[in-house]
Amino acid sequence: MPLADQESSTNKEPSEQQTARREILVTSALPYANGAIHLGHLVEYIQTDIWARFQKARGHECYYVCADDAHGTAIMLKAEELGISPEQQIETVKAEHEKDFGEFLIEFDNYHSTHSEENRVLSEEIYRRLKANGHIATREITQAYDPEKNLFLADRYIIGSCPRCKAEEQYGDNCEACGATYAPTDLIDAKSAISGATPIAKASTHYFFTLPEFSDFLKEWTRAGHVGDEIANKLAEWLDVGLQEWDISRDAPYFGFEIPDAPGKYFYVWLDAPIGYMASFKNLCDREGIDFGRFWAKDVSTELYHFIGKDIVNFHALFWPAMLTSAGFRTPNKVCVHGFLTVNGKKMSKSRGTFINARTYLEHLNPEYLRYYFAAKLSSGVEDLDLNLDDFIQRVNSDMVGKVVNIASRCARFVTNGNDGVLAASISNTELWQRAVDAGETIAAHYEARNFGKAMREIMAIADAANEYIAAQEPWKMAKEEGRAAEVQDTCSLAINLFRVLMIYLKPVLPDMAKQAQVFLNDDLRWDGTIEPLSNHAIEAFKPMLKRVEKDKVEAMVEASREAAPAATAPVSEDVEANNAIEALAEEISFDDFIKVDLRVARIVAASHVEGAGKLLQLTLDIGNETRNVFSGIKSAYKPEDLEGRLTVMVANLAPRKMRFGVSEGMVLAAADDAKGIYLLEPDSGAQPGQRVT
Ligand code: 2FM
Ligand code: ZN
Repeated sequence: MPLADQESSTNKEPSEQQTARREILVTSALPYANGAIHLGHLVEYIQTDIWARFQKARGHECYYVCADDAHGTAIMLKAEELGISPEQQIETVKAEHEKDFGEFLIEFDNYHSTHSEENRVLSEEIYRRLKANGHIATREITQAYDPEKNLFLADRYIIGSCPRCKAEEQYGDNCEACGATYAPTDLIDAKSAISGATPIAKASTHYFFTLPEFSDFLKEWTRAGHVGDEIANKLAEWLDVGLQEWDISRDAPYFGFEIPDAPGKYFYVWLDAPIGYMASFKNLCDREGIDFGRFWAKDVSTELYHFIGKDIVNFHALFWPAMLTSAGFRTPNKVCVHGFLTVNGKKMSKSRGTFINARTYLEHLNPEYLRYYFAAKLSSGVEDLDLNLDDFIQRVNSDMVGKVVNIASRCARFVTNGNDGVLAASISNTELWQRAVDAGETIAAHYEARNFGKAMREIMAIADAANEYIAAQEPWKMAKEEGRAAEVQDTCSLAINLFRVLMIYLKPVLPDMAKQAQVFLNDDLRWDGTIEPLSNHAIEAFKPMLKRVEKDKVEAMVEASREAAPAATAPVSEDVEANNAIEALAEEISFDDFIKVDLRVARIVAASHVEGAGKLLQLTLDIGNETRNVFSGIKSAYKPEDLEGRLTVMVANLAPRKMRFGVSEGMVLAAADDAKGIYLLEPDSGAQPGQRVT
C-alpha cells in the first residue's frame, strides 16, 4: 500500500480563514428507507445543513448530498409485511423523508437513493477494483437459516430465552433484560423471528473484503486528523485488537445489488450505502454538468466531509477509507462524528412521549426553534445532546425572540414613521458597530470547527450589547422630546444595522427568519466579504418574524408522540441498534417483588478467562460468609487482573444455572449495552462484602 500517496498534502483540512474559494462536498448519513425521520436523526441533518449553508454563505462552492439507504433484509421484510414491493416501499418512504427534510429547511443539493443506477454502476466498479487488487476473499461460513422462509438469519432475527437471565423473546445477539451479549447459538429454544421456525445451521460461500491488509494504513489515517481524538482513541482499540475480514455478501433473497460474478449473492447493504454518497453526487453532476472526478479522484484538492453518528464510525473511518484506497479514489478530509439525542436527560422513549417524529414536531412547532436549540447545544465533540423541553422553551424565547427579534421590533417603527423608512447616513457608535463586525471572524471559525454552541454564544453577546445600547438610549423617550429626532434616527438605525449583522451570522441556522429579515431590510444578508453598514438605505415596515414557543404546543407534541407509539417494533438497523433505539422499560413491579431480589456487596477475589468463551470471565466472589462462582459477559470491558480486589454488587439468590463452562451461582450487576459499553457497578469504598443492597 503506497502510504505516502494517501497522505498527500492535498488531503488536509484547510482553515476557514483562507480566502481562496474552496470546493467542498458534504454528506449526512443515509437514513434507512423503512422508517420515519425523528428528532434523533435531525441532530445530524440540522448540524450538516448549518455547516453546508455556512460554507455557501462564505462564498465557497459547496454541495450537500444525501440519499435514502434502500437496501437490506429489514427493508425487504418491511415491504413484505405491508404487502408491497420493496421498490414501492422505498419510493413512498423517500417521498416522506424528503418532505420532512424540506420542512425542516434541510437544503440538500441532491437527495437520491442507493437503489439507483448510479449506485449500481459505482458499486460494481468499486467491487471489481477491490477484486482486481486481490482484496476480495471467498470462503464458506455456516449460519443460522430459516428452513420455512428459506432465508439466512442475521443475529437480530433469531429470538429465544437469554442464556444468562432466562428472559424470554430476546434477540440473538444481546439480552434487553440483563444486557448479556452472546452468540445466537447460545439462546435457549431459539426461533426465527420471521417465521417462528427453529433455525438450522447451513453453510454458504461468502465474499470478504480483506480489511486486515489495511491495518497499517488505517493506523496512520485515523491519527492524521481525519477524525477527532476521542474517535481516534476508540478506533485504536479496535486496530490494536486486530481487524477482521469484512463479510460483504448476503445470500438471496436479499433486496440489493447482485454481485457481478456471483449469481445469488448480493452486496451487503453496508457495502453499497457509503457508495451511495458518490452515487448521489454523480446524479447531481450529470444533471448540472459538474465534474465528478474533481471531487473523487485520488489526490484532488477539493474537500470531502461525512457527518455521521457515533454508532457507525467503523463503517466510515475503517471500511470506507480502506475501500476507497483500494479502488483508487480519494479519502475523506474528515469524518465528523456527533453523539446521540436524549430528551429531558433520557433516551427517547415512546412511553414518555419523547420519541418524537419529525412530522409530529412539525404539526406543533416551528422548525427554526429546533434548529436554533440544536445549534446552541452542538459542539465538535461526540457527547450526547440533550433536548430539555423546558430549557428549549426558555432558550428559544429568551434568545431568538427576546434578544434578536426584539432589537428590530423595538426600533423599526421610529425609522419607518420618523424618517420614511430610510436609515441614517452614518453609524453613531462606531465602537459598538465595529465590535459586532469584528466578532464575525471568531464566529466563522466556530462554525467551521462545528462549535455551533460557541458561535451562538458570541452572537448572543452582540445581541446583548445591542439591547443594552437601546435600553440606555431610550429612543422611545427621546422621540417625545423636542429637537432629538436626529438622535432617535441614529440610535434606531444603528440598532437595525446590528440586527442585520446578527441575522447575517444566524442565516445558516435560521434560513426562514433570514428570508423575512431580507425583505424587511431590503438586503440579501451576504457574508462573503467585509460587512459594511446600510446607510441612507430604505427598509420595509417591520412585521413580526417569530412567535414565542408556547408551552401547551410542546405538551401537545409530547402527547401526540405518546399516542402515536405503536407496540414494540422489530429492530430496523442492519448492524447496530438504531440511533436512539426505543428504551425498553421493564414491566412495573411491586415493592414486595423487588425485595425478593437479594442484592449483596461482593468482593471479586479472583477473575480469569474462560477457555473457549468469547465474552465471559469467571469470577470468584466473596459475599461475607461464602464464596460464589459466577460467569459474567464482561470480558470485552475488563482484564481479569484489573478486577481482582474490586467490590461490586451481585444478585445472590438467583437459582444456580448450568452453563457450558460450569455452574454460575448468581450474577454481577453492570450497566451494559453495545453502544455505550459495559460498566460494572461498584459501591462506595467502605461497603462490606455480604452487606445487603437495597
Ligand atoms: O445507520 C444508518 O442509519 C445507515 N442507514 C447509515 C448509512 S450511512 C452511509 F454509509 F450510507
Ligand atoms: Zn438476560
